[in-house]
Amino acid sequence: MDDLGPAIVDDADGGRYGHAAITLHWLTVLLLIGSFTLGLSMVGLPFGRQKLQWYAWHKWIGISVFLVTCLRLAWRAFRGAPAPLAAMPPWQRRASVLVHGALYGLLLVIPLSGWVYSSSTGVQVVYLGLFPLPDVVPKDRALARALLALHLTLNFTLFSLVCVHTAAALKHHFIDRDTVLTRMLPPWRSVIQGKGTR
Ligand code: HEM
Repeated sequence: MDDLGPAIVDDADGGRYGHAAITLHWLTVLLLIGSFTLGLSMVGLPFGRQKLQWYAWHKWIGISVFLVTCLRLAWRAFRGAPAPLAAMPPWQRRASVLVHGALYGLLLVIPLSGWVYSSSTGVQVVYLGLFPLPDVVPKDRALARALLALHLTLNFTLFSLVCVHTAAALKHHFIDRDTVLTRMLPPWRSVIQGKGTR
């Protein structure tokens, strides 16, 4: 059992992630790549149709990240997650629980900070061009500057944590040669290695 919910334990490796958890994990990665790429490139565009479109896409992807994360957490609460590998030292188990918790927190808070920031600039968010979100704060220049700084800082923190998280996964795979990475990969990887999936 870890601090993020019930654990599935079905073998010495702590079990595999299920298909839904794996799909939602890698969908989140794709959405974040899209969101970061748009977020970094849209700012420098000259004002016009393309800039407005890219800002809208960036916001839509951000809201999608929020929704996918809610779904992921609900699924995790319902189905559980594999326990950390028994061979991992206690500090690594604690570190992985802390980093995963922080990643989940940031995946929820960053889209919310973007929504509040957008409200403070006076631009309403309309998800997918269909669902208008209410403005949560009035238009305010000083507030907008502070919220932009917050949004950028949270994103920088997420980026740094993702680098640590990715480095840890690769270290487990290539140096420790354990199953930490493969249990989060699609099932064909484990079929090759002769491991079952849940
Ligand atoms: C890009 C953004 C990423 C985010 C936001 C993210 C987030 C997360 C979260 C929240 C978990 C915990 C899952 C749970 O137990 O509920 C997780 C697990 C995992 N992630 Fe990522 N991840 C990202 C990228 C990556 C990348 C690039 C890799 C591989 C190179 C990776 C490999 C893994 C592995 C192997 C686990 C399972 C760890 C374990 O079983 O202890 N992740 N990820």
